[in-house]
Amino acid sequence: MGIKSILITGGAGFIGSHVVRLFVEKYPNYHIYNLDALTYAGNLENLKDIESRTNYTFIKGDITDESFIKALFETHRFESVIHLAAESHVDRSIKDPLAFVRTNVFGTMILLNAFKASWKDDYSNKLFYHISTDEVYGSLGDTGLFTERTSYDPNSPYSASKASSDHFVRAYGETYGLPYVITNCSNNYGQNQFPEKLIPLFINNILNSKPLPVYGDGNYTRDWLYVKDHAIAIDLVFHKGKNSETYNIGGFNEWKNIDLVKLLCQQMDAKLGRSKGSSDALITYVKDRPGHDLRYAIDASKIKDELGWVPTVTFEEGLIKTIDWYLSNEQWLDHVTSGTYQSYYQKQYS
Ligand code: NAD
Ligand code: DAU
Repeated sequence: MGIKSILITGGAGFIGSHVVRLFVEKYPNYHIYNLDALTYAGNLENLKDIESRTNYTFIKGDITDESFIKALFETHRFESVIHLAAESHVDRSIKDPLAFVRTNVFGTMILLNAFKASWKDDYSNKLFYHISTDEVYGSLGDTGLFTERTSYDPNSPYSASKASSDHFVRAYGETYGLPYVITNCSNNYGQNQFPEKLIPLFINNILNSKPLPVYGDGNYTRDWLYVKDHAIAIDLVFHKGKNSETYNIGGFNEWKNIDLVKLLCQQMDAKLGRSKGSSDALITYVKDRPGHDLRYAIDASKIKDELGWVPTVTFEEGLIKTIDWYLSNEQWLDHVTSGTYQSYYQKQYS
């Protein structure tokens, strides 16, 4: 069997870097091309350990640059695309929605067109794998779960842009026969996550004894999944998922924000040798996020029953692993939180 050429977009980001590492290490017969624009969220330090592998190439580039992307596909003839590149932070989408349309909608279109043009509708053994989010389904009340049949009902500019890109991928499948799969995953956490998202932000703030800004009353619920379990699910869907299907991925692990924050405070106090309750004192209730979705929770029974995937890491274990990683990688934190991040932080939390 020859070498298979796979494009992973957004591979220098949080989830993308775990996916790139897994594929590069597990599949010597694949050549992994990691295309990333290295925005504030992209960091090649995430992939230092595999950067000299012979089956790995990093390409710096923007998915919205049409002529560049077209030429790239003509040169490399990627057999498959795993598309993770996106603007991913809800709060930023509220401040600058157009940036989300540009990358998440327009960028996805550019990739779809380039993939289509490079195979000229002859798609045997080809796949466009689009990575999406549970946020496209909107908000749940106190009960119920998102299934693959739940109607889309996005509430933030971020989730609206992801929903739009999902629709375009599906439309290219229906209209042009482009082979695709989509997965909609719940909240990820783990090492290398940019400290603007809840868990790494709060780890960083506890470390620096800064306030922990809990939005609204803190009774919002998310379903948390350890990032390496997401990468394992992506590997499985890539190889075994059915054409034109959607799979929901979740942690079977719902937490109210305030309960999660209290657990994190407890674990951080123990790790840092601080007295019990000292991090709880940093909890500060702040103005709510506009349009804040009350609850997300995934019914992941389709991927479990059809492909045999279940999460392998419990939340308590995963959180400890995550804390340990951030505590031993303070230099990584310093690098990503210097410079422009400071002005974002001022604007968001002032
Ligand atoms: P991230 O913000 O950490 O990383 C995004 C990456 O995309 C960065 O490396 C960035 O440089 C790159 N990028 C951004 N714009 C680009 C452009 N125009 N061209 C090329 N590269 C560009 O995001 P993440 O949390 O790793 O999320 C990855 C994907 O998974 C996204 O599509 C997101 O919607 C989805 N997702 C995330 C979560 C989560 O909890 N983080 C959950 C479900 C789905
Ligand atoms: O559900 C999947 C989604 O999870 C992904 O598609 C997104 O890319 C990812 O960012 C994440 O979105 P959330 O908005 O759920 O994640 P975030 O970490 O920003 O917030 C988690 C919860 O914590 C949410 O209810 C808002 C709250 N929060 C967040 C921050 C940053 C706070 O209370 N204070 C904060 O400072």
